Amino acid sequence: MANTKRVALVTGGMGGLGEAICIKLAAMGDTVVTTYSPANQKAKDWLGAMAERGFHFHAYPCDVVEWDSCRACIAAITADLGPVDVLVNNAGITRDMTFRKMDKINWDAVMHTNLDSCFNMTKQVCDGMVDRGWGRVINISSVNGQKGAFGQTNYSAAKAGMHGFTKALALEVARKGVTVNTISPGYIGTSMVTAIPKEVLDTKIIPQIPMGRLGKPEEVAGLVAYLASEEAAFLTGANIAINGGQHMH
Ligand code: CAA
Repeated sequence: MANTKRVALVTGGMGGLGEAICIKLAAMGDTVVTTYSPANQKAKDWLGAMAERGFHFHAYPCDVVEWDSCRACIAAITADLGPVDVLVNNAGITRDMTFRKMDKINWDAVMHTNLDSCFNMTKQVCDGMVDRGWGRVINISSVNGQKGAFGQTNYSAAKAGMHGFTKALALEVARKGVTVNTISPGYIGTSMVTAIPKEVLDTKIIPQIPMGRLGKPEEVAGLVAYLASEEAAFLTGANIAINGGQHMH
């Protein structure tokens, strides 16, 4: 695999963490593909802006919640660019509210987008990785899946579930050259975090981070790049925390 240009797919790569991951994987020489929500009217603008910065990404519409949409997306990528070698399950949403206020719609939305999506996307590429004897699946979870978070019963459950998925799948494909790992970022300076009410961020969250700052998307992207690399071949089933010391275990 070392000398071949790999196809790396990052779900939800337009903005935030996903964008930084796309940029880093491109810098490693991968052909980088991202998905975007079919409702996103700004996909072309993003591709254009990235091209101006020298990054020629590929992008396909995909609703990661819908099995048929995922299947069609991967079929199109495979036909156009070749099979996916590296899958980064990054697409995710928050619907923060205390459990007592949470309705089933907001529970389901988070479970479907953050957890069911891992099944929907990984299922499309796993057999091919096993057949070719090489693959990387990297699931972007969260510190809040490890420690729980006030207002996030849905998100914490989905993110913890991602790592259960990682561990079980890692066992099944360990002998086939395919590694499966979880990354659990802490609070990173993206729109998902800056959407938290400032007072909550300043008084309840930043004080819990020993480094006293938010993480940078590039810091997480560097870890993704390592897990996707040849050097990480013996690393599987892990949950790697990257959170400025907020949660140690
Ligand atoms: N810890 C302890 N108490 C908290 C709290 C916290 N983190 N956040 C809120 N509270 C308390 C308030 O002080 C208030 O207490 P009193 O009633 O005693 O005054 C009470 O909870 C408010 O409860 P409500 O049900 O009225 O909640 P609300 O409508 O004010 O909103 C919330 C609550 C939605 C959870 C809001 O506080 C919030 O958005 N918190 C941030 C949640 C968060 O950290 N989300 C992470 C998003 S980023 C991310 O998820 C990325 C990642 O992976 C790390």
